[in-house]
Amino acid sequence: EKGGYEHFMLKEIFEQPKSILDSMRGRMIAENDHLMMAGVREFENKFQNADRIIIVACGTSWHAGLVAEYLFEDLARIPVEVEYASEFRYRNPIITEKDIVIAISQSGETADTLAALELAKSKGATIFGVCNVVGSSIARATDAGAYTHAGPEIGVASTKAFTAQVTVLTLIAMIIGKKRGTLETTKLRQLIAEMESIPSKVEKALQLNEQIIGISEVYKDATNFLYLGRGYNFPVALEGALKLKEISYIHAEGYPAAEMKHGPIALIDEQMPVVVIATKDSSYEKIVSNVQEVRARKGKVIAVVTEGDTTIPAMADHVIEIPETSEHLVPLLSVIPLQLLSYHIAVMRGCNVDQPRNLAKSVTVE
Ligand code: M6R
Repeated sequence: EKGGYEHFMLKEIFEQPKSILDSMRGRMIAENDHLMMAGVREFENKFQNADRIIIVACGTSWHAGLVAEYLFEDLARIPVEVEYASEFRYRNPIITEKDIVIAISQSGETADTLAALELAKSKGATIFGVCNVVGSSIARATDAGAYTHAGPEIGVASTKAFTAQVTVLTLIAMIIGKKRGTLETTKLRQLIAEMESIPSKVEKALQLNEQIIGISEVYKDATNFLYLGRGYNFPVALEGALKLKEISYIHAEGYPAAEMKHGPIALIDEQMPVVVIATKDSSYEKIVSNVQEVRARKGKVIAVVTEGDTTIPAMADHVIEIPETSEHLVPLLSVIPLQLLSYHIAVMRGCNVDQPRNLAKSVTVE
């Protein structure tokens, strides 16, 4: 059942080239920039005219929602709010009939997410679901939706569901961007072509496994970790930190790299591993200075960079190279080494990676 892997989590990490492909299969054709998603088509006009999109989710699904915020705002120019379902539902939020609420949930059973969308529904908003489990409560409660097709995810730590969510949300952002005329055809074509190359690039990123085992050996006894990223890699920093916390029980925090100066920099000393996701994108120059700031305080830098980069490698203690891609799609690649790092550290610490203490796969109570 684990397909020869020691744990479900590792199997699911390695399934990602296929699960990502399954999530986009039949939904786009590069030659004629054609994109199709039945659930979106049904509400195309609503999406086109939406005043705003509100995303509700918890945990890793909330991180996928943050990636979607960048995508929707950049490609479709619709304002987006990303909400923790538990906060949204209890704070008397302002919701109108012109809002589209997207609920993201792997299990489709998360109690707070379900309650948040029921609330939005009662105020007349259009409810769209991005779920993995077919026929789940959230999928049934929505007006329309798109399944992620990641296949069953058994490990409590979400991995392939996250990349499937990001894949589907990227396609939705492209469809709406095209419809609204905010995403020009040449750029759309490039993105579709780049999207098609993602499964093979994920495959390549998975070849980093051996190298990451080595890095895990070095840091397995650390008591704290910091994860930094900017732009599309900021949600990835949060996700990397969550993965490490939940399965290895090491305290980890994810931060937008520029926020470091506003507090967390005080934590940095020679004991502190800092994972910096610093791929070649529009915030690259900025993150170079953040890495310098960490070095100046003797923090240990584990950098995830774009293949061929020479600047960051000259400053980092460990360099993890991932294939180049469009910055819109980079989370699909940059998250892979972070999943592997948390997995190996947890295994080395003797933790139960598939069923970490105190955690359930779906949180059906609030
Ligand atoms: O099933 P859902 O996507 O609604 O679950 C949301 C969170 O409970 C979930 O992502 C949780 O944070 C995972 N354990 C993260 O790995």
